[in-house]
Amino acid sequence: MNMKKYRLLSLFFGVSLLLLSGCTSKENPFPDHEGGKIYLGLKHMNIRCSGCHGDLGGGGMSGPSLVKAVKKLKPEEFVATVISGRGDMPSFNKKLQEEEIIQIVEWLKMLPED
Ligand code: HEC
Repeated sequence: MNMKKYRLLSLFFGVSLLLLSGCTSKENPFPDHEGGKIYLGLKHMNIRCSGCHGDLGGGGMSGPSLVKAVKKLKPEEFVATVISGRGDMPSFNKKLQEEEIIQIVEWLKMLPED
């Protein structure tokens, strides 16, 4: 292989590496590090809520959209609803701390409405 081709080739690999790393950092859905508020919110949500409210909280399984609910309700109203339960939703009193429900609120606030 001559030098010119070799240089072009390494330039090509360099650029694609740059592009790749650019993509992964842009697509990272967890701006907070593991263990951070938003990561924990996603975790609690997956374990406790997604079965009824959908993976991304968009609703449609058997519960309404929580992405809409965080825009409509004050955080303390959201927490109170989850602690006491409502209609077909069980009470999460003793299963989740208030702080953990706030973590769920922080996660839901980051999600687009549809
Ligand atoms: C067993 C299914 C089920 C699970 C699990 C569940 N929900 Fe619900 N949720 C519902 C249903 C059904 C409603 C509508 C209740 C009603 O108004 O009659 C609801 C309503 C709500 C509301 C009120 C929404 C509004 O627009 O006023 C909030 C907030 C909420 N859920 C949060 C949560 C969170 C957070 C979790 C996880 C900790 C969770 N839910 C787990 C079924 C569920």
